[in-house]
Amino acid sequence: ARPMLQPVRRPTVALTYGTYDLFHIGHVRLFERIRERWDRLIVAVSTDEFNAIKGKRSVVPYADRVAMVSACRWVDEVFPERRWDQKADDIRRWGADALVMGSDWTGRFDDFKPLCEVVYLPRTEGVSSTALKADVVARVHASI
Ligand code: CTP
Repeated sequence: ARPMLQPVRRPTVALTYGTYDLFHIGHVRLFERIRERWDRLIVAVSTDEFNAIKGKRSVVPYADRVAMVSACRWVDEVFPERRWDQKADDIRRWGADALVMGSDWTGRFDDFKPLCEVVYLPRTEGVSSTALKADVVARVHASI
């Protein structure tokens, strides 16, 4: 007898954006939770030039942030975020089923709902790149 053919389901794709400075557990948990719901995760990493436009400056340079995000097991593809207005093109180009962000962005990407699902996942409590930087500074001042 011929083996039964299983219907082929297209892998679902999630897209997310961020700087990922001082790559930390909040970033990893977000990626892990995205991969619980979608088959593939594409991550746009903000370039140093784009961060300068946003008035941010990362400790870790772009190439190294890309290397660390790429090395995470939950991440399938990484590409640069260079402009505020690239998201609609990215959603189409990557065939994204969902744009997923942490809850600090709730409501900010709702304009993309005609193009794909827009989902805000809860942030991991008690950790952020800013808090890590502040903690290091405080420890230097306390000389520990
Ligand atoms: N994120 C998260 N949990 C955290 C920190 C970040 O889920 N504790 C998510 C954010 O919601 C965002 C993504 O990780 O979707 C990238 O966030 P990014 O701004 O690079 O990290 P932060 O630690 O929030 O950086 P900053 O302190 O500079 O705002």
